[in-house]
Amino acid sequence: MIRKMFVEKYRPKTISDMIGSENLKTLSDSIQTDPWSLPHLLLATKSAGTGKTTLAKAIINEIKSDFLYLNASDERGIDVIRDRVKEFVITQGFNRDAPKIVHLDEADGLTRDAQDSLRNLMEEYSENCRFILTCNNENKIIEPIKSRCTIINLANPPKEQIYTYLKNIIDAENIKMGISLNDLVNRYYPDIRSMLMALESVKVLGSIQINGSVEVANSIYDLLKSKKISDARRLWLTYGVSHRDIVKRIYFLVMDDENISKSAKYDAVHVIAEADYRMAVGSDSEITLASLAFELVSIFK
Ligand SMILES: Nc1ncnc2c1ncn2[C@@H]1O[C@H](COP(=O)(O)OP(=O)(O)OP(=O)(O)O)[C@@H](O)[C@H]1O
Ligand SMILES: [Mg+2]
Repeated sequence: MIRKMFVEKYRPKTISDMIGSENLKTLSDSIQTDPWSLPHLLLATKSAGTGKTTLAKAIINEIKSDFLYLNASDERGIDVIRDRVKEFVITQGFNRDAPKIVHLDEADGLTRDAQDSLRNLMEEYSENCRFILTCNNENKIIEPIKSRCTIINLANPPKEQIYTYLKNIIDAENIKMGISLNDLVNRYYPDIRSMLMALESVKVLGSIQINGSVEVANSIYDLLKSKKISDARRLWLTYGVSHRDIVKRIYFLVMDDENISKSAKYDAVHVIAEADYRMAVGSDSEITLASLAFELVSIFK
């Protein structure tokens, strides 16, 4: 029997089933009443695993569109836009009652040429076709595309609703949790995908395994709190996780850590912000991360 992974099995099929859907009610109501009212959309969040792809799929599902799905981080060049997207938009759709949809997941991976070509298609075919783009880094999307889209910056999903969502899965899957739900959510917040992967790992292996970037960052954080800088460094060198993602994750962990004082938090966030800035402007990320590690260890004392 094929077993679906939790991230697919428990991906909400409709907008109203999504965590945080209150903010999307206007969109949901309007496409229910008139699918053609759907604008081109750019769905953005700063954090992974918080519902961009899920929302795009839910919209397509609700209005039963003909759609083309492309993951732009795999297929990022102009040929894909010229060939596959163009071929899709010029042909007649199966469902005449709703626009056809081109779902470009992780569109921030598209090259500049590809984006220019996309912009032309958006203009030319917007009568029968809508584009839904998702991205983590809005700055990598060119202005002419942004100005043609309604931009939705998805807020971080409310924790209370995450508890209920995960609790239902834990009951349905009969999972014996070794840690409290509260700890699990804080450990990964706001990344719901990582929470689901952790639950799956507990169900299948009996414990949470180090796999994704979140787990690596969590372990680095724990090591820094025990002043084990070399061990922490070994982790960020061994696992090919983006150093910038590690910094972002450490920020969330610091903010939710009840065992550090307010003034230590203040100092920690200050050095984290500095590291994030340096990485953004292109300084060597390994050196920046090492420098942050030393600073945090002295702040945590
Ligand atoms: N708002 C949400 N409500 C319910 N489940 C969610 C929500 N956000 C994420 N999930 C769960 O987490 C999984 C990952 O979410 P999704 O693929 O939508 O993330 P994403 O924002 O596209 O992340 P990435 O930036 O990595 O592409 C989904 O399969 C879904 O089960
Ligand atoms: Mg996604």
